[in-house]
Amino acid sequence: MLTTVNITDDIYYIGVNDRETYLFENLWPLDRGVSYNAYLIDDEQTAVFDTVKNTKTHVFIDKIAGILKDRPLDYLVINHMEPDHSGAIKALQDKYPDLKLVGNTKTFELLEDFYGPLKNYHVIKDGDQLSLGTHTLSFYLTPMVHWPETMMSYESTTGTLFSMDAFGGFGTLDGGIFDDEVNLEFYMDETRRYYSNIVGKYGAMVQKALKKLKDANIPMNIIAPTHGPVWRTDPHCIIDHYDRWSRAETEEGVVIVYGSMYGNTQKMADVIARRLSENGIKNIRIYDASKTHVSYLISDLWRFKGVILGSCAYNTGLFPTMETLVNKLENSQLKDRLLGIFGTASWSGGGVSNLNKFAEKIKWQRVGESVEAKSSPKEKDFQQCIAIADEMAERLIKERA
Ligand code: FEO
Repeated sequence: MLTTVNITDDIYYIGVNDRETYLFENLWPLDRGVSYNAYLIDDEQTAVFDTVKNTKTHVFIDKIAGILKDRPLDYLVINHMEPDHSGAIKALQDKYPDLKLVGNTKTFELLEDFYGPLKNYHVIKDGDQLSLGTHTLSFYLTPMVHWPETMMSYESTTGTLFSMDAFGGFGTLDGGIFDDEVNLEFYMDETRRYYSNIVGKYGAMVQKALKKLKDANIPMNIIAPTHGPVWRTDPHCIIDHYDRWSRAETEEGVVIVYGSMYGNTQKMADVIARRLSENGIKNIRIYDASKTHVSYLISDLWRFKGVILGSCAYNTGLFPTMETLVNKLENSQLKDRLLGIFGTASWSGGGVSNLNKFAEKIKWQRVGESVEAKSSPKEKDFQQCIAIADEMAERLIKERA
């Protein structure tokens, strides 16, 4: 028996879990997997919303056939055609030859680029509607959240928004499908990691999409994304988080990330953190950039206002794992952080000087003077670290009011 879950009487969850893949997009660690969510509306006309990664094609099609039995599948709505959601389209059209593919012009342009010509295109424009019988769908184009063709579909009798990747996150659905069935602490962390690394660069387009949904004035009873839990009890919780993340709104706290070959830069990080704590800052995270994957660093940097970066020199440059982090940050469009810088030089510099170049490019507010110790930190270097911590704490505390 395959797991299909009723979301309402005739809307089904037909998604699949992926516990095998190590890296999402061959980049982002899937420590606890990922789900590829898809949905089916069983009405006079039947419709599926998005498919799954190609490795999951058979179980996905078996789920659909298990619900429809001998009845045809009339529509596949393609809210997002990235291959983790379009991998089963060809096989689905082989199984249901009259299946109509619903998407916008950009959807079909990209689909043909990836898969070659398909058939039975039903091209929709922003605001178009499609009746399935009892259920009526409205389509909202939400381009660049985070691909050019991305759109959302809204079912009005139940107030269900099929939102593609928006509002979704990493983590398989291990029994619990709905927000009220799972431990949300884990899923919120993994949804922020997904947002900050994959969607966050397009925050302005997320804001446009949220405004479009708000202006449409539609009841939002259920949010059904293509990854992570289905929001039926508190859909506005995830909308609020998306709103805050896409406006780069922060919590009070400091993330310290360092690259250290022999532990000297690390000593400076510990001194800074202790001083922040003495000053009353409670959310302090220290990460060794060589140990923690950059996606987790970006997720925490999206959350907290204070950022303190440290690097030793490595072959006259920045320590490589810190270089990965600052490159990702430069590309991310993350705005409005407080930034302190520290590190060490030995027979050459290159760590602190390159962090200072990064600071000039990213244009965050600087906190204190950057400090660069010679090989190992001495008392005067620690005092400069303390000065960075004092100024960071003071500025964060000032924002409390
Ligand atoms: Fe889940 Fe943008 O693919």
